[in-house]
Amino acid sequence: MSAPHRQLAGRIVIATHNPGKLKEMRELLASYGIDAVSAGELGLGEPEETGASFRDNARIKARAAAGASGLPAFADDSGLAVDALGGAPGIHSARWAGEDKNFARAMQMIESMLADHGADRPALRQAQFVSALCVAWPDGHLEEFEGTVEGTLVWPPRGTAGFGYDPMFLPDGHERTFGEMTADQKHGLPPNGQGLSHRARAFLKLAGACLKR
Ligand code: IMP
Repeated sequence: MSAPHRQLAGRIVIATHNPGKLKEMRELLASYGIDAVSAGELGLGEPEETGASFRDNARIKARAAAGASGLPAFADDSGLAVDALGGAPGIHSARWAGEDKNFARAMQMIESMLADHGADRPALRQAQFVSALCVAWPDGHLEEFEGTVEGTLVWPPRGTAGFGYDPMFLPDGHERTFGEMTADQKHGLPPNGQGLSHRARAFLKLAGACLKR
Protein backbone atom coordinates (compact mmCIF):
# COMPACT_ATOMS: atom_id res chain seq x y z
CA MET A 1 0.00 0.00 0.00
CA SER A 2 1.38 3.46 -0.85
CA ALA A 3 1.99 5.94 1.97
CA PRO A 4 -0.78 8.51 2.57
CA HIS A 5 -0.20 11.98 1.18
CA ARG A 6 0.74 14.66 3.66
CA GLN A 7 -1.70 17.56 3.96
CA LEU A 8 -0.55 21.10 3.24
CA ALA A 9 -1.97 23.89 5.43
CA GLY A 10 -1.13 27.27 6.91
CA ARG A 11 1.89 29.26 5.80
CA ILE A 12 4.11 28.08 2.97
CA VAL A 13 6.85 29.47 0.75
CA ILE A 14 6.45 29.59 -3.00
CA ALA A 15 9.95 28.81 -4.25
CA THR A 16 10.09 31.02 -7.31
CA HIS A 17 11.57 34.35 -8.34
CA ASN A 18 9.54 34.37 -11.58
CA PRO A 19 6.74 36.97 -11.19
CA GLY A 20 4.55 35.27 -13.84
CA LYS A 21 4.68 31.92 -12.09
CA LEU A 22 4.30 33.50 -8.65
CA LYS A 23 1.07 35.20 -9.71
CA GLU A 24 -0.37 31.96 -11.11
CA MET A 25 0.66 29.89 -8.09
CA ARG A 26 -0.83 32.43 -5.65
CA GLU A 27 -4.10 32.36 -7.58
CA LEU A 28 -4.11 28.55 -7.54
CA LEU A 29 -3.43 28.37 -3.78
CA ALA A 30 -5.73 31.22 -2.74
CA SER A 31 -8.97 29.21 -2.81
CA TYR A 32 -7.47 26.68 -0.39
CA GLY A 33 -6.77 29.27 2.32
CA ILE A 34 -3.01 28.85 1.97
CA ASP A 35 -0.98 31.82 3.17
CA ALA A 36 1.81 31.90 0.59
CA VAL A 37 4.91 34.04 0.86
CA SER A 38 7.43 34.02 -1.98
CA ALA A 39 11.10 33.10 -1.85
CA GLY A 40 11.84 36.58 -3.21
CA GLU A 41 9.86 38.27 -0.39
CA LEU A 42 11.80 36.24 2.21
CA GLY A 43 15.09 37.20 0.56
CA LEU A 44 16.00 33.55 -0.14
CA GLY A 45 18.62 32.84 -2.80
CA GLU A 46 17.95 30.98 -6.02
CA PRO A 47 19.58 27.53 -6.11
CA GLU A 48 21.29 26.43 -9.29
CA GLU A 49 18.99 24.21 -11.35
CA THR A 50 21.39 21.38 -12.02
CA GLY A 51 18.82 18.60 -12.53
CA ALA A 52 18.31 16.63 -15.73
CA SER A 53 14.51 16.79 -15.63
CA PHE A 54 11.68 19.12 -14.66
CA ARG A 55 11.06 16.88 -11.66
CA ASP A 56 14.68 17.07 -10.46
CA ASN A 57 14.73 20.86 -10.73
CA ALA A 58 11.39 21.31 -8.93
CA ARG A 59 12.77 19.18 -6.09
CA ILE A 60 16.01 21.21 -5.92
CA LYS A 61 14.06 24.48 -5.63
CA ALA A 62 11.51 23.17 -3.10
CA ARG A 63 14.17 21.57 -0.87
CA ALA A 64 16.35 24.68 -0.89
CA ALA A 65 13.44 26.95 0.09
CA ALA A 66 12.16 24.56 2.80
CA GLY A 67 15.65 24.28 4.27
CA ALA A 68 16.26 28.03 4.25
CA SER A 69 12.84 29.06 5.59
CA GLY A 70 11.80 26.23 7.92
CA LEU A 71 8.39 26.23 6.15
CA PRO A 72 6.86 23.80 3.64
CA ALA A 73 7.92 25.00 0.18
CA PHE A 74 6.06 24.70 -3.08
CA ALA A 75 8.05 24.77 -6.35
CA ASP A 76 7.26 24.40 -10.02
CA ASP A 77 9.72 23.61 -12.75
CA SER A 78 8.21 23.97 -16.13
CA GLY A 79 8.88 24.65 -19.75
CA LEU A 80 8.03 24.15 -23.35
CA ALA A 81 9.03 20.93 -25.14
CA VAL A 82 8.85 21.13 -28.94
CA ASP A 83 8.52 17.76 -30.67
CA ALA A 84 10.39 18.75 -33.87
CA LEU A 85 13.29 20.05 -31.74
CA GLY A 86 13.69 16.83 -29.75
CA GLY A 87 11.97 18.32 -26.69
CA ALA A 88 13.97 21.61 -26.66
CA PRO A 89 14.01 24.10 -25.06
CA GLY A 90 12.62 21.85 -22.25
CA ILE A 91 14.36 22.42 -18.93
CA HIS A 92 16.29 25.27 -20.60
CA SER A 93 13.12 27.25 -21.46
CA ALA A 94 13.96 30.15 -19.16
CA ARG A 95 17.61 30.18 -20.26
CA TRP A 96 16.70 30.55 -23.95
CA ALA A 97 15.32 33.99 -23.12
CA GLY A 98 18.75 35.12 -21.87
CA GLU A 99 19.71 37.34 -18.95
CA ASP A 100 17.34 40.03 -20.17
CA LYS A 101 14.41 37.54 -20.22
CA ASN A 102 13.58 38.40 -23.81
CA PHE A 103 10.86 35.95 -24.79
CA ALA A 104 10.13 37.68 -28.09
CA ARG A 105 13.66 36.68 -29.10
CA ALA A 106 13.33 33.17 -27.63
CA MET A 107 10.10 32.62 -29.60
CA GLN A 108 11.85 33.91 -32.73
CA MET A 109 14.67 31.40 -32.14
CA ILE A 110 12.17 28.55 -31.93
CA GLU A 111 10.44 29.77 -35.07
CA SER A 112 13.76 29.92 -36.97
CA MET A 113 14.63 26.39 -35.86
CA LEU A 114 11.20 25.14 -36.89
CA ALA A 115 11.67 26.81 -40.29
CA ASP A 116 15.05 25.04 -40.61
CA HIS A 117 13.16 21.78 -40.01
CA GLY A 118 10.62 22.67 -42.71
CA ALA A 119 7.90 22.69 -40.01
CA ASP A 120 5.39 24.66 -42.03
CA ARG A 121 2.15 22.93 -40.98
CA PRO A 122 0.47 22.31 -37.63
CA ALA A 123 1.23 18.57 -37.59
CA LEU A 124 4.97 19.39 -37.59
CA ARG A 125 4.64 22.12 -34.95
CA GLN A 126 3.40 20.11 -31.96
CA ALA A 127 4.61 21.02 -28.48
CA GLN A 128 3.77 20.47 -24.82
CA PHE A 129 4.02 22.67 -21.80
CA VAL A 130 5.13 20.58 -18.83
CA SER A 131 4.91 21.45 -15.13
CA ALA A 132 6.51 19.44 -12.35
CA LEU A 133 5.32 20.49 -8.89
CA CYS A 134 7.11 19.58 -5.70
CA VAL A 135 6.20 20.37 -2.11
CA ALA A 136 9.10 19.82 0.29
CA TRP A 137 8.79 19.95 4.08
CA PRO A 138 11.70 20.93 6.34
CA ASP A 139 11.82 17.32 7.66
CA GLY A 140 12.55 16.04 4.13
CA HIS A 141 9.09 14.76 3.19
CA LEU A 142 8.24 15.33 -0.52
CA GLU A 143 5.04 15.33 -2.56
CA GLU A 144 5.47 15.45 -6.37
CA PHE A 145 3.01 15.83 -9.27
CA GLU A 146 3.27 16.50 -13.03
CA GLY A 147 0.91 18.03 -15.60
CA THR A 148 1.16 18.57 -19.35
CA VAL A 149 -0.90 20.36 -21.99
CA GLU A 150 -0.55 19.58 -25.70
CA GLY A 151 -0.72 22.21 -28.42
CA THR A 152 0.59 23.67 -31.66
CA LEU A 153 3.05 26.53 -32.09
CA VAL A 154 1.69 29.43 -34.16
CA TRP A 155 3.53 32.23 -35.91
CA PRO A 156 3.38 35.18 -35.50
CA PRO A 157 2.82 35.13 -31.71
CA ARG A 158 -0.70 36.19 -30.65
CA GLY A 159 -1.81 38.06 -27.52
CA THR A 160 -0.16 39.93 -24.69
CA ALA A 161 -1.54 38.08 -21.64
CA GLY A 162 0.37 35.50 -19.60
CA PHE A 163 4.15 35.28 -19.84
CA GLY A 164 7.02 33.44 -21.48
CA TYR A 165 6.06 31.43 -24.55
CA ASP A 166 2.28 31.90 -24.08
CA PRO A 167 1.67 33.94 -27.27
CA MET A 168 3.02 31.14 -29.46
CA PHE A 169 1.13 28.26 -27.83
CA LEU A 170 -2.30 27.24 -29.13
CA PRO A 171 -3.64 24.49 -26.86
CA ASP A 172 -5.35 21.62 -28.68
CA GLY A 173 -9.09 22.12 -29.09
CA HIS A 174 -8.92 25.91 -28.60
CA GLU A 175 -8.87 28.91 -30.93
CA ARG A 176 -7.00 31.30 -28.65
CA THR A 177 -3.34 31.08 -27.73
CA PHE A 178 -2.41 31.19 -24.03
CA GLY A 179 -1.35 34.78 -24.75
CA GLU A 180 -4.92 35.59 -25.81
CA MET A 181 -6.62 33.91 -22.84
CA THR A 182 -7.66 35.43 -19.55
CA ALA A 183 -6.01 34.05 -16.42
CA ASP A 184 -9.15 31.98 -15.70
CA GLN A 185 -9.21 30.56 -19.22
CA LYS A 186 -5.54 29.59 -19.02
CA HIS A 187 -5.27 28.21 -15.51
CA GLY A 188 -8.55 28.78 -13.63
CA LEU A 189 -9.80 25.78 -11.69
CA PRO A 190 -13.42 24.61 -11.82
CA PRO A 191 -15.89 26.32 -11.52
CA ASN A 192 -14.08 29.44 -12.89
CA GLY A 193 -12.05 27.58 -15.48
CA GLN A 194 -11.37 24.07 -16.65
CA GLY A 195 -7.83 23.61 -15.31
CA LEU A 196 -6.36 23.84 -18.81
CA SER A 197 -2.70 24.75 -18.33
CA HIS A 198 0.07 22.32 -17.45
CA ARG A 199 0.47 24.04 -14.07
CA ALA A 200 -3.27 23.89 -13.34
CA ARG A 201 -3.33 20.18 -14.26
CA ALA A 202 -0.41 19.39 -11.98
CA PHE A 203 -1.98 21.56 -9.29
CA LEU A 204 -5.31 19.72 -9.49
CA LYS A 205 -3.45 16.46 -8.79
CA LEU A 206 -1.67 18.07 -5.85
CA ALA A 207 -4.91 19.59 -4.55
CA GLY A 208 -6.65 16.21 -4.73
CA ALA A 209 -3.89 14.63 -2.67
CA CYS A 210 -2.70 17.35 -0.26
CA LEU A 211 -5.20 20.21 0.04
CA LYS A 212 -8.63 20.67 1.61
CA ARG A 213 -11.00 23.48 0.67
P1 IMP B 1 11.76 27.65 -14.66
O1 IMP B 1 10.74 26.59 -14.34
O2 IMP B 1 11.76 28.76 -13.69
O3 IMP B 1 13.09 27.06 -14.96
O4 IMP B 1 11.31 28.37 -16.00
C1 IMP B 1 10.33 27.88 -16.82
C2 IMP B 1 10.26 28.70 -18.08
O5 IMP B 1 9.39 27.96 -18.97
C3 IMP B 1 9.61 30.05 -17.91
O6 IMP B 1 10.51 31.07 -17.72
C4 IMP B 1 8.91 30.22 -19.26
O7 IMP B 1 9.85 30.59 -20.19
C5 IMP B 1 8.50 28.82 -19.62
N1 IMP B 1 7.15 28.56 -19.15
C6 IMP B 1 6.79 27.75 -18.12
N2 IMP B 1 5.46 27.79 -17.94
C7 IMP B 1 4.99 28.64 -18.86
C8 IMP B 1 3.68 29.12 -19.14
O8 IMP B 1 2.67 28.79 -18.51
N3 IMP B 1 3.59 29.98 -20.17
C9 IMP B 1 4.66 30.39 -20.89
N4 IMP B 1 5.89 30.00 -20.65
C10 IMP B 1 6.06 29.12 -19.64
